[in-house]
Amino acid sequence: MSTLPAARTRRLVLLALLPLMSACGSGSEHSIIPVPQQVTLGSGSFEISSDVSIQFVDPSDDTAQAVFDIWATPYRESGALPLTPSESGTFRVGVDGQGEPESYRLEITQDGIDLGAADPAGLFYGLQTLSQLMPASAVTGSAGSSFGLPAISIDDAPRFAYRGMHLDVARHFFPPEFIKHYIDLLAHYKINRFHWHLTEDQGWRIEIERYPRLTEVAAFREQTQIGHGLDEFNGDGVRYGGFYTKEEIRDIVAYAEARHVTIIPEIEMPGHAQAALAAYPELACTEGPFEVAMTWGVFEDIYCPYDETFEFLENVLAEVIDLFPGEYVHIGGDEAPKTRWEESQFVRDLMVQEGFNDVEQVQGYFIRRIERFLNENGKRLIGWDEILEGGLPPNATVMSWRGTIGGIEASRRGHDVVMTPNSLLYFDYYQSEAQDDEPFAIGGFLPLDTVYSYEPVPDQLRERDKERIIGAQANVWTEYMKTGDQVEYMLLPRMLALSEIVWSPAESKNYESFLRRISWHLARFDALGVNYRALDD
Ligand code: ACM
Repeated sequence: MSTLPAARTRRLVLLALLPLMSACGSGSEHSIIPVPQQVTLGSGSFEISSDVSIQFVDPSDDTAQAVFDIWATPYRESGALPLTPSESGTFRVGVDGQGEPESYRLEITQDGIDLGAADPAGLFYGLQTLSQLMPASAVTGSAGSSFGLPAISIDDAPRFAYRGMHLDVARHFFPPEFIKHYIDLLAHYKINRFHWHLTEDQGWRIEIERYPRLTEVAAFREQTQIGHGLDEFNGDGVRYGGFYTKEEIRDIVAYAEARHVTIIPEIEMPGHAQAALAAYPELACTEGPFEVAMTWGVFEDIYCPYDETFEFLENVLAEVIDLFPGEYVHIGGDEAPKTRWEESQFVRDLMVQEGFNDVEQVQGYFIRRIERFLNENGKRLIGWDEILEGGLPPNATVMSWRGTIGGIEASRRGHDVVMTPNSLLYFDYYQSEAQDDEPFAIGGFLPLDTVYSYEPVPDQLRERDKERIIGAQANVWTEYMKTGDQVEYMLLPRMLALSEIVWSPAESKNYESFLRRISWHLARFDALGVNYRALDD
């Protein structure tokens, strides 16, 4: 290089800086989302090229190599960066047990890259951050095999242990390939919990061997309402349904685990159960028959608290527990009208026997009985905030969706809480006030800046109660999302705001900076063919 004429050298420096500028936005700021705990920008850059090689600090650490291979696959497949292991690589990677869980340290200098992590999850996250320092198109190989990485020093760890995204696959069904793609999107933004909403009035989506009618009958509805359904029923006349086999679920669980995403399966009870009742009407308080719902909303036919119902649910949960290794099982608990219970002689007798004077206490009895079963089988129960009514199960975690009141109350009562207030974290709400410009949705208005402004820990809590807020989650209910494309549109870029809420220190949040950083991410979505809602001008 020293032998080149001066003018040519300047041009080469500029060429080297170009990708660096695209990765760093203005050149003085990086594009990392969620913003790391500590970032120091250095000067100069490390030149990546096709001969950059990897040195594993501990060559016997198979887990670190497996994490690395997942990250490296798209770069290798595109042919741009072979990323071959070597004993003296310029890209040094290792898990060293230092620091908080899920933390990592990334150091890029002119001489190379050093990535050290507390654990495999931290390594995975450090590599996601590294991707975001590359040109947005590098992941598809279209950035070529030579570009600069900015000199930078990052020390990063998550703010919350629970960083969640939900997907309703019951109102509309999304195939396994899409679920994996969804998990990829989550994992890249350091979201580590996938709440998989598997059962509903309109469809049962998980194979349960002991109860074949759940997939033969409950997984299919005759047709689906058109529009919001405010007027008389207007159906589309198309039979609709689907479910995941156990084999598909095991494959998805392993896929998620390798990306440090824990799946929380949701089996709804006692309400939102009409599809299951269509298959097994003997579990309802009245005779039936029932049909898998074809309209949206809240339905009065719910599970009746017979011993036989608990036997059914425990058998179902036993198969669910066998499939999902995570600590939590979500049991729903929301929107269960008590009309049928109030009318039922069986429930009235149960209330006398148990000394209950309010039918809501039967809901508490129901959930506590299920919690006992889950705890005995090594799992923790999580449920929507209605489980606070009628007597909270002793070890339950509460997901606060009807605003934050339920979360505040549960934390004061010593329960762990995940905040998911509908007005701030429901991604089925419109992204524009002028709804006619947008794909048809349920209603509401939740723009990006409102999501970004959310702070999950309420000010009014005492310090010890604040610690009960283990994180936050955004929900994607799919009544009005029929395709993966539509799900992506509602998810992105709002999930990027969520990632910063749950990962980054509260004091580092800055919406102007977030908006500058986001353009790199939209360019990456373009390169990958991922749909998203464009930013407002
Ligand atoms: C809910 O949105 N019904 C939890």
